[in-house]
Amino acid sequence: MPQRPASRLSTNRSSLGHKARYALRHPRRVLPYLRRAGRDTWLRLRHRDGHVAYYRAVMASDTAKSPEAAVGGGPSHDRWLAIGQMQFDYLREHGLRPQDRMLELGCGNLRAGWRFIDHLEPGHYYGIDISPDILIEAKKTLVRYGLQHKLPYLTPVDNLTLDFLPDAAFTVVHAHSVFSHSTLDIIDECLANVGRVLAPGGFFDFTYDRTETREHQVLGEDFYYRTQTLVRLAARHGLAARFMDDWEQLPHGQSKLRVTHAA
Ligand SMILES: C[S@@+](CC[C@H](N)C(=O)[O-])C[C@H]1O[C@@H](n2cnc3c(N)ncnc32)[C@H](O)[C@@H]1O
Repeated sequence: MPQRPASRLSTNRSSLGHKARYALRHPRRVLPYLRRAGRDTWLRLRHRDGHVAYYRAVMASDTAKSPEAAVGGGPSHDRWLAIGQMQFDYLREHGLRPQDRMLELGCGNLRAGWRFIDHLEPGHYYGIDISPDILIEAKKTLVRYGLQHKLPYLTPVDNLTLDFLPDAAFTVVHAHSVFSHSTLDIIDECLANVGRVLAPGGFFDFTYDRTETREHQVLGEDFYYRTQTLVRLAARHGLAARFMDDWEQLPHGQSKLRVTHAA
């Protein structure tokens, strides 16, 4: 398995030692971090009914400030474009055809989604997200790129049971930078259900923040998992998960697994 920088894989960002060292190296980031921690504590207190409700509130707050930054695009529009392009190019190189039927989990404001919609036949893209605020931004992206005629579906969800979707409907399921914000029980719920909507021969690609030390989370927003944890979870639901080495070569901090029906 190729390596991201060793420091990235071995850092426990939740430890006090790491936080202290980070603060010394980046003193200007301390105040924004404290503000974010304060806001997140407030949101957690207001939304005690589970991670989805809490994270939906985080998304509402972030989207109100900047929809592009809310999906991890940072302050620059070029970065938003580049990360979307990277996702699209990767799947194109892996054979994404206009006839494919794609389900995108956590589609955000269609950073990559607009390119998928453009490439796919009308009605072949289905985007879901827990955040109604970001889905409203997704519609604006559709309008900006003149993609109304492609008739994509954009649907808010409360969970990843996928119970409202038909069996074997999708040849490609995609989740970029979604499990990096998800608790393990949400990932488990997704893996327990995604096999039903995945067509025979189809695949489910997802990215995750990889750690090779202790699994941990920061502010209830960013979650770091060991590859084996996710591979085992997939196997429990009759799915095979493969580490995507070629994704590792790309300038992106997360790693990628591809899940298929086990043989
Ligand atoms: C970092 S953004 C990435 C958005 C998009 N995939 C992209 O690459 O631009 C994460 C998105 O996942 C959504 N999300 C987080 N947890 C989710 C869940 N359990 N089910 C569906 N969407 C979720 C968030 O609302 C947000 O839009």
